[in-house]
Amino acid sequence: MSWKTIDDLALAGKTVLTRVDINVPMEGDGVTDTTRIDKIRPTVEDIIARGGKVVLLAHFDRPKGKVVPEMSLGRIQGAVAASLGRKVVFAADCVGPLAVAAIDAAAQGDVILLENTRFHAGEEANDPAFAAQLAALGDVFINDAFSAAHRAHASTEALARLLPAAAGRLMEAELKALDAALGNPQRPVVAVVGGAKVSTKLELLGNLVSKVDHLVIGGGMANTFLVAQGIDVGKSLAERDMAPIALEILTKAKAAGCTLHLPVDVVVAAAFKAGAENKVVAPNACPPDQMILDAGPATVAALTKVFESCKTLIWNGPLGAFEIAPFDAATSAAARVAAALTKAGKLVSVAGGGDTVSALNHAGVAGDFTFISTAGGAFLEWMEGKVLPGVAALHG
Ligand code: 3PG
Repeated sequence: MSWKTIDDLALAGKTVLTRVDINVPMEGDGVTDTTRIDKIRPTVEDIIARGGKVVLLAHFDRPKGKVVPEMSLGRIQGAVAASLGRKVVFAADCVGPLAVAAIDAAAQGDVILLENTRFHAGEEANDPAFAAQLAALGDVFINDAFSAAHRAHASTEALARLLPAAAGRLMEAELKALDAALGNPQRPVVAVVGGAKVSTKLELLGNLVSKVDHLVIGGGMANTFLVAQGIDVGKSLAERDMAPIALEILTKAKAAGCTLHLPVDVVVAAAFKAGAENKVVAPNACPPDQMILDAGPATVAALTKVFESCKTLIWNGPLGAFEIAPFDAATSAAARVAAALTKAGKLVSVAGGGDTVSALNHAGVAGDFTFISTAGGAFLEWMEGKVLPGVAALHG
């Protein structure tokens, strides 16, 4: 890997501008999931242990270049302090005199949290002048925000080119895990791609068929593939206009030697509601007034065999409407199989992106996967085979 890590930079006595992604969900004044904050702790501790002063740079929500008080990082100052177990000093601007004063006043060992970088229009414009203002605050740059690396913004991209730069521990772990899953994986590789729509995952499917040995398609997008094969899916969610694209993906998979797996049985119900009366039928036997809401037990059994035959698994998206029981059954059962194989040392399993982490948490197995990415959009763009600007900038 050609990027540097914390170990490659001399940090003693240095002010270390550390880009993190602490864009966490909130309800009222409380953070509902502190995972992203908890995950930056190894980087913060390593910088401090090496004698560096940690200055956190981060965005929060999408204020679009304006000061929006509800999107102030000051709101999560307490949550950051609690998670890191350190004094956190907040500066009400991320550049200029307020930032300089807070950094100068803080002791080594304190963490300085600068205000939302997106309060300045220069951030999203990747403006060199704004990046230079950021760079003026510190001596070195550590990027620990893989989940924001798909954005070419001043604090994720331009800044890495202005100061000696390296990947933080979380960025390092993400890049290594993703390389093990898709860059240089142990074969055979199976990818599970679920979710509602083919249209949002077109590029991803197109990239995967040329990289993996097995592609499992689940969720609403599987219905679109069934429609493409002339199957009537009743009232099921399906993008009927995407059928030709689904056929193209099937053809591309065949040409690339990738085996595509669709459900071999499905769970149907008349209504999308918890506990709705349901039954298991063949994929071509969905009654006209019903909808497919999950994959069935025979599909889970078939996937178990596929997982057992593979050495690497990459997972994005649920197999059914997992938010509502009993339509979470296939996702949870398949996740448990993957977790057990991982624990037995037979499978490297990497998951990420949006609903996936909630689905694995729901199944109670997130802790048993080899790696769970903290990224949403960045994970998807990486699965699409795109170069992530924040990662590319670290390569120099
Ligand atoms: C995320 O939540 O996925 C990252 O923080 C990126 O946020 P963005 O989509 O607003 O750039």
